[in-house]
Amino acid sequence: MHILHVVGARPNFMKAAPVLSAVHGRNGTRQTLVHTGQHYDNNMSDVFFKQLQLPRPDLNLAVGSGSQANQTAEIMVRFEAAVMERMPDLVVVYGDVNSTVAAALVCSKLLIPVAHVEAGLRSFDRTMPEEINRLLTDQISDLLFTPSSDGDENLVREGIATSRIHLVGNVMVDTLIRLLEKAEHCVPPDLPDRYILVTLHRPSNVDDLEALRQILEALAEIGQEIPVVFPVHPRTRQRLRELDIDLRRFSLLEPLPYLEFLALQRHACAVITDSGGIQEETTYLGIPCITLRENTERPITVTMGTNVIVGRDMARLRAELNTAVSGRWKTGRIPPLWDGHSGERIANILS
Ligand code: UD1
Repeated sequence: MHILHVVGARPNFMKAAPVLSAVHGRNGTRQTLVHTGQHYDNNMSDVFFKQLQLPRPDLNLAVGSGSQANQTAEIMVRFEAAVMERMPDLVVVYGDVNSTVAAALVCSKLLIPVAHVEAGLRSFDRTMPEEINRLLTDQISDLLFTPSSDGDENLVREGIATSRIHLVGNVMVDTLIRLLEKAEHCVPPDLPDRYILVTLHRPSNVDDLEALRQILEALAEIGQEIPVVFPVHPRTRQRLRELDIDLRRFSLLEPLPYLEFLALQRHACAVITDSGGIQEETTYLGIPCITLRENTERPITVTMGTNVIVGRDMARLRAELNTAVSGRWKTGRIPPLWDGHSGERIANILS
């Protein structure tokens, strides 16, 4: 069997690594790795390949940045040529980025079976580009691998046959478990004893400059009490340049490699984020997570884990942060099957 995996953006890499590794060496299986090049900076891409020990991509489509339509279309055009040349038996796509839906759409027209890893997640907010990517990818995939049972329920509600749905657990947690000890050796120097870790990159938070200003003002206030460590996503970096605001209250960093960022999460008093994956990683690590979004496609991190959703309510952000910093946060549990073996479960099903 020939399996072709498609990755494109930072959050894909840690999901693909355990699947590639679990499939590797299985009887008669050949694997090809295609990078669409949606993320292309060294610190958004190459360094992840090294740290996660991902094989070098067999092909990089080098699509780069563009508008939503432009980027998606460019991936489709270039991926179609690549996949027609290689004609795999199955294509595996990951997560909810533009590369995911673009590759799935190409394969569905060429009648090449598609497996979607991290299927079934729903924020029920169609203003998010990722929600559109999730909905469409799941409708046209042949195999759907879900991280938690809410994913299965969402897919069944959308009319997907249960025979196509497999609850396998969280592949990102496979990578976290594998590399947690190594990350301990990568704690950045000069890290304060107590700090808050911040990440922001959602268009709804950073492309709306007024929203971004309010968030930064609240964070600057917090920064008077406890250091705020803030690795800045390229999208956010561009917006910060447009805002006339004093950033000296924050410890601004470049986007960090996987191991360094994992170490920072593990030792933070609390994490403030609008990322999807970080809500899950903090739940696994038992670290308080405050999510600056109106909703989440990962509700299990709220019902079972250490996550709370505060939307744009800056008073609530301050209140939740006080609770976290004073050590009164809720105790979470690790969701079922977030155990480091999700990649193997996927490989068994593919076999
Ligand atoms: C993408 C995903 C999002 C994911 C995020 C993680 C989509 C729709 N969005 O958002 O789901 O959570 O990645 O990082 O697929 N840029 C660089 N260097 C890079 C990559 C991007 O400078 O290596 C700049 C681009 O020029 C662009 C901006 O960052 O202006 C946004 O990049 P883009 O790929 O559109 O989406 P992300 O915001 O990264």
